[in-house]
Amino acid sequence: MTLRTNFLWGGASAAHQYEGAYLEDGKGLCTFDALGGGSYTEPRQVTYMDEKGQVGAAAVDSSMTGPVPKLTRGYVDPNRYYPSHEATDFYHHWKEDIALMAQMGFKCYRMSIAWTRICPKGTEEINEAGLAFYDQIFDELRKYGIEPVVTLNHFDMPMYLADHWDGWLSRKVVDYFLFFCETVFKRYRGKVKYWMTFNEINVLSSWCQTGVHENNEANLAQAHHHILIASAKAVQLGHHIDPHNQIGMMVSYTPCYPLTCKPEDVLEAIQFNRQKEFYMDVQVRGYYPEYRCKELERKHISIAMAKDDLAILKAGTVDFIGFSYYMSTVAGTDPNVKKTQGNQFLGLKNPYLETSDWGWTVDPLGLRIALIQMYERYHLPLFVVENGLGAKDTVEESGAINDDYRIAYLRSHIQALKDAVRLDGVDVMGYTPWGCIDIVSAGTGEMAKRYGLVYVDKHDDGSGDLSRHPKKSFRWYQQVIRTNGEEL
Ligand code: BG6
Repeated sequence: MTLRTNFLWGGASAAHQYEGAYLEDGKGLCTFDALGGGSYTEPRQVTYMDEKGQVGAAAVDSSMTGPVPKLTRGYVDPNRYYPSHEATDFYHHWKEDIALMAQMGFKCYRMSIAWTRICPKGTEEINEAGLAFYDQIFDELRKYGIEPVVTLNHFDMPMYLADHWDGWLSRKVVDYFLFFCETVFKRYRGKVKYWMTFNEINVLSSWCQTGVHENNEANLAQAHHHILIASAKAVQLGHHIDPHNQIGMMVSYTPCYPLTCKPEDVLEAIQFNRQKEFYMDVQVRGYYPEYRCKELERKHISIAMAKDDLAILKAGTVDFIGFSYYMSTVAGTDPNVKKTQGNQFLGLKNPYLETSDWGWTVDPLGLRIALIQMYERYHLPLFVVENGLGAKDTVEESGAINDDYRIAYLRSHIQALKDAVRLDGVDVMGYTPWGCIDIVSAGTGEMAKRYGLVYVDKHDDGSGDLSRHPKKSFRWYQQVIRTNGEEL
């Protein structure tokens, strides 16, 4: 058998895209609650109130990197539709959904805890109802022998911390985050063993993700330093509270190929790859790599560091690397080559590869390349915690959803993963396809862009009865898990 016998097969989601119930049972507002819907061509818009009390909306591009105007507060406009407020309502469907996960044979389920369900303002005030909600989830998962894999922060910033502390730009937010971490590490001790600190730490740039209002390069470098410190401290704290905890980092891994063998193109690709390697270098090796120090120096950016910061980074290295893989990209110096759409960082279009309906390059071999690159650089266990195809699904008259395109995508990627294990000796812990039960897209806010193996009757105009329907891929994935990936 190619894969370990305890290989963690499962699926993945994030609270703000799945739970809904955005203000129920004491939950506080988070930045994503002020983010409206968009589409392939229309960017999402964040609503805000300026210092004069005027309500407005600012476009956030599809990779969510847009700033919001200075001195504004996130605002939920009662006249607008926000896709994540109800999302696909895991909050009220968790029993049914976990039963579906169990039917697929899940060994694990990757999810995030909404910070504002536990600490409504992000501060040191606790909402017991929020803690109790996740207690039931973890107990239900355990009932079926499904291991929870919990992301401590999946893009959601408490609105109060964005409004009053400028999010991660403030060192104070590190303390608040640590309070939240301590609360959940203690409460769920013995129930949760696998944790990851920050989802796609290398892409956190928009106001929604960081709470930073003026997201220029210097501010983001400072905010990211605080995030890295928060992650390192969380790792130490989690190990201290329960030495059995396995705590990983999480990065968006989009391998970048040079456009040609021209040395300038190769250098471009190296530099592009550093956008993610930097975060792995810090979280795995425990220090800022030389190329980043030089870059900051060149740009005259100096990061304010507290006296123990370097020691904290050194002591807070992670146990494993979790990563999302959707696509590869290309870098080069030719200004005439078209840019591609894609997950967060955009490169050039690859002439050899097809793209999805949303323009994301489909490259299964890129997953093997990603696994090789990471493993040979860090020698830590790797966990594919996101992968999948965002596509439009059609419900046929019979009620069937024949998503053969999704099966083909997942099959080819799992095959590439197996090759990395069998042929390259990479240590892979598990695989959790993204949005295993349909959820709201993060990039566009659409329901039309579905990743799930289970269809949820919910649409872009908010209609739908939220009923759940297994797609063809559901049965296929059952067999994949049953045979530990031998039958694809
Ligand atoms: C990753 C995020 O970037 O990609 C998820 O961690 C996101 O939150 C996923 O949903 C897919 O992106 P999208 O834009 O298709 O939802």
